[in-house]
Amino acid sequence: MTEHSPVNEIAAKPVTLPDAQTVTAVQHWTDRLFSFRVTRPASLRFRSGEFVMIGLLGDNGKPLLRAYSIASPAWDDELEFYSIKVPDGPLTSKLQHIEVGDQIILRPKPVGTLVLDALLPGKRLWFFATGTGIAPFASLMRDPDTYERYEQVIMMHTCRDVAELEYGRRLIEDIRGDEMLAELMGEGFADKLLYYPTTTQEESPVMGRITDNLTSGKAFADLGIPGINPEEDRGMVCGSLAFNTDMKEVLEGFGLEEGANSDPKQYVVEKAFVGDGI
Ligand code: FAD
Ligand code: A2P
Repeated sequence: MTEHSPVNEIAAKPVTLPDAQTVTAVQHWTDRLFSFRVTRPASLRFRSGEFVMIGLLGDNGKPLLRAYSIASPAWDDELEFYSIKVPDGPLTSKLQHIEVGDQIILRPKPVGTLVLDALLPGKRLWFFATGTGIAPFASLMRDPDTYERYEQVIMMHTCRDVAELEYGRRLIEDIRGDEMLAELMGEGFADKLLYYPTTTQEESPVMGRITDNLTSGKAFADLGIPGINPEEDRGMVCGSLAFNTDMKEVLEGFGLEEGANSDPKQYVVEKAFVGDGI
């Protein structure tokens, strides 16, 4: 048998069948952002808010994998992901071209700190996200458990411009209007969900960084919420390292303490990506 026989090539591929999933939908939001759905392995169990490793076969035939938050809720038959397109990014320069029917690799080992069990019970749950950091909250906002545990759920999402908010805006519109979700979540659940989108580099109805809108009190005034305190409020943070670091300071300033799966407290943090941003 020669080195290049098809049999050899197939045998050399390190992707085993259970790790290959089929793309069922792709939507492009901007030239920097897209979302897609894939089939879900029957054996995959995860908690809303967790992430998995996904990817494609690299040019060398080896899997090229990156961490991705699962944006769909735990009850969904399929898996949804919300992705950046990094022009020279090893994975996303290729991943952005996937089409329905293509296969991606998915390692079915979900992990992460943005889970409801990592927080102590409370009255209000705040989601703080920049950019693709909204992905884990797209999962949690569609999980009935979120609304069973909290009286109010507040999604604060900030992007540079209006177009980058569109995935989140549409998601919340869908959540509020979806009859199947209403049945699953219970009457009146949509009223519990407050949405506070802002931009920082393009004019929009509400502007400013999340950190600034919290420390100035503007967000509280706009939302009709007295403030954030350690007795009633719980937070989840997902954005760039700089955002996460600044948010920790803001939340600690309100008296909240950082928790973990093994030690639930008042807030938890996860990186939306590693690096300084693009
Ligand atoms: P990389 O070499 O991985 O990244 C190149 C550079 O691009 C980085 O240094 C950084 O500056 C920038 N960058 C990477 N990802 C982003 C991003 N999401 N937003 C802004 N700038 C970025 N990415 C997603 O798009 N969606 C997710 O749900 C998601 N979840 C993640 C969860 C965790 C826990 C972590 C650690 C990362 C997550 N990422 C997510 C980032 C993801 O793992 C990859 O970095 C991203 O897909 C780009 O891959 P790449 O190989 O093209 O470029
Ligand atoms: P700004 O435009 O003022 O930098 P990026 O696309 O660079 O990841 O940023 C996404 C959003 O997060 C932008 O609106 C940006 O605001 C905001 N942001 C970036 N860094 C921080 C930070 N340290 N604290 C609060 N918001 C931040």
